[in-house]
Amino acid sequence: MHHFDYRQDRLYAEDIDISALAEKVGTPFYVYSEATLRRHIKVFSTAFADTDALVAYSVKANPNLAVLRILASEGAGADVVSAGELTRALHAGIAPEKIVFSGVGKTTEEMEAALNAEIYQFNVESAPELEALNNIAGDLDKIAPVAIRVNPDVAAGGHDKISTGRKEDKFGVPWTNARALYARAREMQNIRIKGVDLHIGSQIADLAPFETAFEKAAGLIKDLREDGCTIERLDLGGGLGIPYGAGTIPPHPNDYAELIKRVTAPLDVQLIFEPGRMIAGNAGLLVTKLVYVKEGEARKFLIVDAAMNDLIRPALYDAHHDIIPVKRDMDAVNARYDVVGPVCESSDYIAKARNLPEMAPGEYMAIMSAGAYGASQSSQYNTRPLIPEVLVNGDKHAIIRRRPTFDEMTALEHYPDWID
Ligand code: LLP
Repeated sequence: MHHFDYRQDRLYAEDIDISALAEKVGTPFYVYSEATLRRHIKVFSTAFADTDALVAYSVKANPNLAVLRILASEGAGADVVSAGELTRALHAGIAPEKIVFSGVGKTTEEMEAALNAEIYQFNVESAPELEALNNIAGDLDKIAPVAIRVNPDVAAGGHDKISTGRKEDKFGVPWTNARALYARAREMQNIRIKGVDLHIGSQIADLAPFETAFEKAAGLIKDLREDGCTIERLDLGGGLGIPYGAGTIPPHPNDYAELIKRVTAPLDVQLIFEPGRMIAGNAGLLVTKLVYVKEGEARKFLIVDAAMNDLIRPALYDAHHDIIPVKRDMDAVNARYDVVGPVCESSDYIAKARNLPEMAPGEYMAIMSAGAYGASQSSQYNTRPLIPEVLVNGDKHAIIRRRPTFDEMTALEHYPDWID
């Protein structure tokens, strides 16, 4: 559930009229609802309130500092995948003892930063990474708390490009090598084994793949304990899907929680979760303006001022985002359109063959469910400035990322000043 609704046919973000906001801020821009962010993290945490659980929000979904600070105030931890995300999480006030570090390619500098910050857990994804972490921790005279991310070889996820738990994916340690790697880890002086980690994919719309993978992980924990390993934690990653307005409706967090409690109850472990999309996805939308209506030979196009550099999900994953007018006209006639941006690529589209009410240039539209992997995956392609992010709280709003000037966009570039 979110807080974007029509009032007398005008779309509101909480108590803010989006048309008025668009006039003030200028399109395109993202708008996030604080009440929705708080609601989502509470729904997720409450589902596990009767267990020992750490909810480590996956920063990559929406890393804006203001968003992180809201989630920190609700007690969330963070799942980070780079030194940059680690710095953001700490900056926003997330305690290091609630931060887990995932990712297949952690560099020496990143491991040093995380060890110095004394984070809760490294999710290690390969034998060479484990070796490196042991050496770096040794040099710093630290002990690295580790979970090994295992690859359960389970197919899951809303699209091929967001599936991570199959054996052909780059993620995790092959299932068949896991026990041997744990045995090696136990001998390493500066590694302390804490748990098992897995993350099988994103936008997962049914419980079956979770159940298969989590049962496998439970079996592994039993085997590891027989081998003499102390396993105190089980990190189940993120991946729970959200409704995008088309396709299947994913399970409610309560059903996901029930399954997990059933599978993990006998294990006596602390559970760690890394939800991203579920928290931020439906807490944000992208407001765009219709620039031209173009009648092509084969199709009709709505050319809008948002583009693939602002929201790349349709181009990259054929993702569906609902599009609705900011001012609704119940009598408007519908037609079938491709909604496209101004970027010079055929893949620059927001929607294809979508039934939408006829609109006039200058009117605003909202691209829904854009709070996760929207702004965080945006770029300045075509030298289009990163777009503002606006946070709404009741009848107040705040610009939490402003539009850069041309000078700011090019500030890191220089005409050559040759050095010999
Ligand atoms: N933990 C790990 C280790 C991950 O790799 C991810 C997402 C998450 C947690 C959070 O997953 P979530 O709960 O958000 O599904 N850009 C794509 C999604 C990529 C997900 C990458 N990893 C998209 O826009 O659909």
